[in-house]
Amino acid sequence: MPSTGDPLEPQTIQNELGQSLFAKNFVFHKSIDSTNRLAKDLAVKGAPEGTVVLTEEQTMGRGRRGRKWISPGYVNLLFSLLLRPNLNPDQVFILTMVLALSAIDAVKTTTGLSSQIKWPNDLYVARKKLAGILTEFSIDGTGVEYVILGIGLNVNWDLGDEKELSSPVTSILAQTGLQTPRKELFIKCLRCFESDYLEVLSGKIKPFYKKWNDHSLILGREVEIESGDEKIRGQALRIDQQGALIIQDPQGHSRRIVSGDVSLKF
Ligand code: BTN
Repeated sequence: MPSTGDPLEPQTIQNELGQSLFAKNFVFHKSIDSTNRLAKDLAVKGAPEGTVVLTEEQTMGRGRRGRKWISPGYVNLLFSLLLRPNLNPDQVFILTMVLALSAIDAVKTTTGLSSQIKWPNDLYVARKKLAGILTEFSIDGTGVEYVILGIGLNVNWDLGDEKELSSPVTSILAQTGLQTPRKELFIKCLRCFESDYLEVLSGKIKPFYKKWNDHSLILGREVEIESGDEKIRGQALRIDQQGALIIQDPQGHSRRIVSGDVSLKF
Protein backbone atom coordinates (compact mmCIF):
# COMPACT_ATOMS: atom_id res chain seq x y z
CA MET A 1 0.00 0.00 0.00
CA PRO A 2 1.43 3.43 -0.88
CA SER A 3 2.08 5.66 2.12
CA THR A 4 -0.85 7.93 2.89
CA GLY A 5 -1.46 9.97 5.98
CA ASP A 6 -5.15 9.86 5.25
CA PRO A 7 -6.42 6.31 4.74
CA LEU A 8 -10.13 5.83 4.21
CA GLU A 9 -11.42 3.85 7.20
CA PRO A 10 -14.75 2.34 6.18
CA GLN A 11 -15.93 1.55 9.70
CA THR A 12 -15.29 5.10 10.92
CA ILE A 13 -16.99 6.53 7.85
CA GLN A 14 -20.01 4.29 8.24
CA ASN A 15 -20.30 5.22 11.94
CA GLU A 16 -20.08 8.92 11.14
CA LEU A 17 -22.77 8.57 8.48
CA GLY A 18 -25.10 7.49 11.31
CA GLN A 19 -28.69 7.24 10.12
CA SER A 20 -27.86 8.28 6.56
CA LEU A 21 -29.35 6.40 3.64
CA PHE A 22 -25.73 5.77 2.62
CA ALA A 23 -24.68 4.09 5.89
CA LYS A 24 -26.85 1.01 5.49
CA ASN A 25 -25.06 -0.97 2.83
CA PHE A 26 -21.52 0.37 2.73
CA VAL A 27 -19.10 -1.63 0.58
CA PHE A 28 -15.38 -0.87 0.73
CA HIS A 29 -12.49 -2.41 -1.19
CA LYS A 30 -8.91 -1.26 -0.96
CA SER A 31 -8.54 -2.10 -4.64
CA ILE A 32 -11.11 -3.01 -7.25
CA ASP A 33 -11.46 -2.86 -11.04
CA SER A 34 -14.29 -0.29 -11.02
CA THR A 35 -16.74 0.83 -8.36
CA ASN A 36 -19.38 1.38 -11.06
CA ARG A 37 -18.92 -2.19 -12.26
CA LEU A 38 -19.39 -3.60 -8.77
CA ALA A 39 -22.30 -1.29 -7.94
CA LYS A 40 -24.01 -2.40 -11.16
CA ASP A 41 -23.48 -6.09 -10.35
CA LEU A 42 -24.86 -5.51 -6.86
CA ALA A 43 -27.85 -3.68 -8.32
CA VAL A 44 -28.63 -6.59 -10.63
CA LYS A 45 -28.50 -8.91 -7.61
CA GLY A 46 -31.02 -6.73 -5.79
CA ALA A 47 -28.83 -4.55 -3.53
CA PRO A 48 -30.86 -1.80 -1.88
CA GLU A 49 -31.12 1.88 -2.67
CA GLY A 50 -28.32 3.76 -0.91
CA THR A 51 -25.65 1.11 -1.47
CA VAL A 52 -22.24 2.80 -1.61
CA VAL A 53 -19.12 1.32 -3.18
CA LEU A 54 -15.94 3.13 -2.13
CA THR A 55 -12.37 2.25 -3.00
CA GLU A 56 -8.82 3.49 -2.54
CA GLU A 57 -7.77 2.31 -6.00
CA GLN A 58 -9.30 1.24 -9.32
CA THR A 59 -7.48 -0.99 -11.77
CA MET A 60 -9.99 -0.41 -14.63
CA GLY A 61 -11.78 2.80 -13.75
CA ARG A 62 -14.42 3.66 -16.33
CA GLY A 63 -15.01 7.06 -17.86
CA ARG A 64 -17.69 8.40 -20.17
CA ARG A 65 -17.88 7.31 -23.80
CA GLY A 66 -15.86 4.13 -23.20
CA ARG A 67 -12.82 5.97 -21.87
CA LYS A 68 -10.67 4.99 -18.90
CA TRP A 69 -10.65 6.91 -15.67
CA ILE A 70 -7.06 7.40 -14.59
CA SER A 71 -6.34 7.97 -10.92
CA PRO A 72 -3.48 6.96 -8.68
CA GLY A 73 -4.51 4.97 -5.61
CA TYR A 74 -4.96 6.24 -2.05
CA VAL A 75 -5.07 9.96 -2.80
CA ASN A 76 -8.39 10.70 -4.51
CA LEU A 77 -12.06 9.89 -3.97
CA LEU A 78 -13.50 7.11 -6.13
CA PHE A 79 -17.00 5.91 -5.35
CA SER A 80 -20.38 4.88 -6.74
CA LEU A 81 -23.90 5.23 -5.37
CA LEU A 82 -26.76 2.88 -6.16
CA LEU A 83 -30.18 4.53 -6.26
CA ARG A 84 -33.64 3.24 -7.05
CA PRO A 85 -35.54 6.49 -7.60
CA ASN A 86 -39.12 6.79 -8.61
CA LEU A 87 -38.25 8.88 -11.68
CA ASN A 88 -38.85 8.66 -15.40
CA PRO A 89 -35.82 7.65 -17.47
CA ASP A 90 -35.66 11.15 -18.97
CA GLN A 91 -35.28 12.62 -15.47
CA VAL A 92 -32.16 10.63 -14.55
CA PHE A 93 -29.87 13.47 -15.63
CA ILE A 94 -31.12 15.44 -12.62
CA LEU A 95 -29.28 13.02 -10.34
CA THR A 96 -26.01 13.64 -12.16
CA MET A 97 -26.59 17.36 -11.73
CA VAL A 98 -27.31 16.95 -8.04
CA LEU A 99 -24.15 14.90 -7.47
CA ALA A 100 -22.05 17.48 -9.35
CA LEU A 101 -23.54 20.28 -7.25
CA SER A 102 -23.00 18.30 -4.02
CA ALA A 103 -19.36 17.74 -4.91
CA ILE A 104 -18.97 21.47 -5.66
CA ASP A 105 -20.47 22.34 -2.26
CA ALA A 106 -18.39 19.76 -0.41
CA VAL A 107 -15.15 20.94 -2.06
CA LYS A 108 -16.00 24.58 -1.36
CA THR A 109 -16.92 24.11 2.30
CA THR A 110 -14.01 21.75 3.05
CA THR A 111 -11.25 23.58 1.16
CA GLY A 112 -12.54 27.00 0.02
CA LEU A 113 -11.91 26.01 -3.61
CA SER A 114 -14.59 27.02 -6.15
CA SER A 115 -15.28 24.76 -9.10
CA GLN A 116 -17.65 24.86 -12.07
CA ILE A 117 -19.59 22.35 -14.14
CA LYS A 118 -18.62 21.64 -17.71
CA TRP A 119 -21.54 20.02 -19.47
CA PRO A 120 -22.53 17.32 -19.16
CA ASN A 121 -20.93 16.31 -15.89
CA ASP A 122 -17.34 17.35 -15.31
CA LEU A 123 -16.10 19.59 -12.53
CA TYR A 124 -13.52 22.10 -13.65
CA VAL A 125 -11.17 24.52 -11.92
CA ALA A 126 -8.93 26.88 -13.87
CA ARG A 127 -9.77 25.15 -17.16
CA LYS A 128 -8.67 21.78 -15.84
CA LYS A 129 -10.71 18.76 -14.86
CA LEU A 130 -11.12 18.20 -11.13
CA ALA A 131 -13.77 15.47 -11.23
CA GLY A 132 -15.87 13.37 -13.57
CA ILE A 133 -19.18 11.63 -13.10
CA LEU A 134 -20.32 8.48 -14.85
CA THR A 135 -24.05 7.77 -14.67
CA GLU A 136 -25.32 4.36 -15.75
CA PHE A 137 -28.89 3.22 -15.39
CA SER A 138 -31.31 0.47 -16.21
CA ILE A 139 -34.98 0.72 -17.05
CA ASP A 140 -37.69 -1.88 -16.82
CA GLY A 141 -41.37 -1.94 -17.77
CA THR A 142 -42.29 0.48 -15.00
CA GLY A 143 -39.51 3.04 -15.33
CA VAL A 144 -36.07 3.38 -13.77
CA GLU A 145 -34.93 0.13 -12.16
CA TYR A 146 -31.64 1.47 -10.78
CA VAL A 147 -29.15 4.29 -11.28
CA ILE A 148 -25.43 4.09 -10.61
CA LEU A 149 -23.72 7.43 -10.04
CA GLY A 150 -19.95 7.08 -10.01
CA ILE A 151 -17.61 9.95 -9.29
CA GLY A 152 -13.86 10.34 -9.38
CA LEU A 153 -12.70 13.47 -7.54
CA ASN A 154 -9.04 14.43 -7.61
CA VAL A 155 -8.13 15.38 -4.06
CA ASN A 156 -4.53 14.89 -2.88
CA TRP A 157 -3.08 13.92 -6.24
CA ASP A 158 0.39 15.38 -6.64
CA LEU A 159 0.27 16.09 -10.36
CA GLY A 160 3.98 15.96 -11.04
CA ASP A 161 3.23 13.46 -13.82
CA GLU A 162 0.45 15.54 -15.38
CA LYS A 163 2.20 15.77 -18.75
CA GLU A 164 1.55 12.06 -19.27
CA LEU A 165 -2.19 12.64 -19.26
CA SER A 166 -3.96 13.35 -22.52
CA SER A 167 -6.21 16.13 -21.21
CA PRO A 168 -5.72 18.88 -18.62
CA VAL A 169 -6.31 17.53 -15.14
CA THR A 170 -6.08 19.12 -11.74
CA SER A 171 -6.60 18.24 -8.09
CA ILE A 172 -7.47 20.09 -4.92
CA LEU A 173 -3.83 19.74 -3.85
CA ALA A 174 -2.62 21.20 -7.15
CA GLN A 175 -4.98 24.17 -6.77
CA THR A 176 -4.58 24.93 -3.06
CA GLY A 177 -1.18 23.46 -2.17
CA LEU A 178 -2.89 21.81 0.79
CA GLN A 179 -3.76 18.22 1.72
CA THR A 180 -7.50 17.71 2.20
CA PRO A 181 -9.00 15.20 4.65
CA ARG A 182 -10.72 12.82 2.24
CA LYS A 183 -13.05 11.33 4.86
CA GLU A 184 -14.47 14.75 5.72
CA LEU A 185 -14.89 15.64 2.06
CA PHE A 186 -16.56 12.33 1.27
CA ILE A 187 -19.01 12.55 4.17
CA LYS A 188 -19.93 16.16 3.29
CA CYS A 189 -20.54 15.15 -0.31
CA LEU A 190 -22.81 12.27 0.71
CA ARG A 191 -24.74 14.39 3.24
CA CYS A 192 -25.30 17.16 0.74
CA PHE A 193 -26.30 14.69 -1.97
CA GLU A 194 -28.73 12.90 0.34
CA SER A 195 -30.62 16.02 1.33
CA ASP A 196 -30.80 17.25 -2.28
CA TYR A 197 -31.82 13.79 -3.50
CA LEU A 198 -34.76 13.79 -1.09
CA GLU A 199 -35.78 17.21 -2.45
CA VAL A 200 -35.69 15.85 -5.99
CA LEU A 201 -37.81 12.86 -5.01
CA SER A 202 -40.35 15.21 -3.45
CA GLY A 203 -40.63 16.97 -6.81
CA LYS A 204 -38.52 20.08 -6.11
CA ILE A 205 -36.41 19.96 -9.22
CA LYS A 206 -36.40 23.53 -10.59
CA PRO A 207 -33.95 25.03 -8.05
CA PHE A 208 -31.31 22.51 -9.14
CA TYR A 209 -31.49 23.71 -12.75
CA LYS A 210 -30.96 27.27 -11.56
CA LYS A 211 -28.03 26.20 -9.39
CA TRP A 212 -26.59 24.16 -12.26
CA ASN A 213 -26.81 27.17 -14.58
CA ASP A 214 -25.22 29.40 -11.92
CA HIS A 215 -22.25 27.02 -11.73
CA SER A 216 -21.92 26.36 -15.43
CA LEU A 217 -18.57 26.99 -17.05
CA ILE A 218 -19.96 27.08 -20.57
CA LEU A 219 -23.32 28.85 -20.64
CA GLY A 220 -23.22 32.07 -22.63
CA ARG A 221 -19.89 31.13 -24.20
CA GLU A 222 -18.76 30.00 -27.62
CA VAL A 223 -18.26 26.25 -27.62
CA GLU A 224 -17.34 23.45 -29.96
CA ILE A 225 -18.94 20.07 -29.31
CA GLU A 226 -17.71 16.78 -30.65
CA SER A 227 -20.77 14.59 -30.89
CA GLY A 228 -20.29 11.34 -32.81
CA ASP A 229 -18.51 12.27 -36.06
CA GLU A 230 -19.82 15.81 -35.95
CA LYS A 231 -18.20 18.99 -34.67
CA ILE A 232 -20.80 21.57 -33.78
CA ARG A 233 -20.03 25.19 -32.99
CA GLY A 234 -22.23 27.73 -31.33
CA GLN A 235 -23.11 29.64 -28.22
CA ALA A 236 -24.18 27.53 -25.24
CA LEU A 237 -27.61 28.79 -24.15
CA ARG A 238 -28.98 26.43 -21.49
CA ILE A 239 -29.69 22.84 -20.59
CA ASP A 240 -33.21 21.54 -20.95
CA GLN A 241 -35.23 19.38 -18.55
CA GLN A 242 -33.56 16.21 -19.84
CA GLY A 243 -30.06 17.66 -19.43
CA ALA A 244 -29.51 18.18 -23.16
CA LEU A 245 -27.45 21.22 -24.10
CA ILE A 246 -29.17 23.87 -26.22
CA ILE A 247 -26.86 25.93 -28.38
CA GLN A 248 -27.35 28.63 -30.98
CA ASP A 249 -25.36 27.87 -34.11
CA PRO A 250 -23.69 30.59 -36.24
CA GLN A 251 -26.81 30.71 -38.48
CA GLY A 252 -28.90 31.61 -35.45
CA HIS A 253 -30.66 28.23 -35.18
CA SER A 254 -31.12 26.43 -31.90
CA ARG A 255 -29.68 22.94 -31.71
CA ARG A 256 -30.23 20.35 -29.03
CA ILE A 257 -27.18 18.23 -28.17
CA VAL A 258 -27.73 15.12 -26.08
CA SER A 259 -24.14 13.96 -25.69
CA GLY A 260 -20.65 15.02 -26.61
CA ASP A 261 -17.42 16.61 -25.48
CA VAL A 262 -17.37 20.36 -25.17
CA SER A 263 -14.41 22.63 -25.66
CA LEU A 264 -14.51 26.35 -25.08
CA LYS A 265 -13.66 28.73 -27.94
CA PHE A 266 -12.26 32.15 -27.12
C1 BTN B 1 -15.70 10.84 -16.95
O1 BTN B 1 -15.38 12.01 -16.72
O2 BTN B 1 -15.47 10.29 -18.02
C2 BTN B 1 -16.42 10.08 -15.85
C3 BTN B 1 -15.45 9.47 -14.90
C4 BTN B 1 -16.07 8.71 -13.76
C5 BTN B 1 -15.04 8.04 -12.91
C6 BTN B 1 -15.64 7.40 -11.68
S1 BTN B 1 -14.41 6.86 -10.55
C7 BTN B 1 -15.59 6.00 -9.63
C8 BTN B 1 -16.55 5.37 -10.59
N1 BTN B 1 -16.09 4.07 -11.01
C9 BTN B 1 -15.74 4.05 -12.28
O3 BTN B 1 -15.27 3.06 -12.88
N2 BTN B 1 -15.95 5.24 -12.85
C10 BTN B 1 -16.52 6.18 -11.90
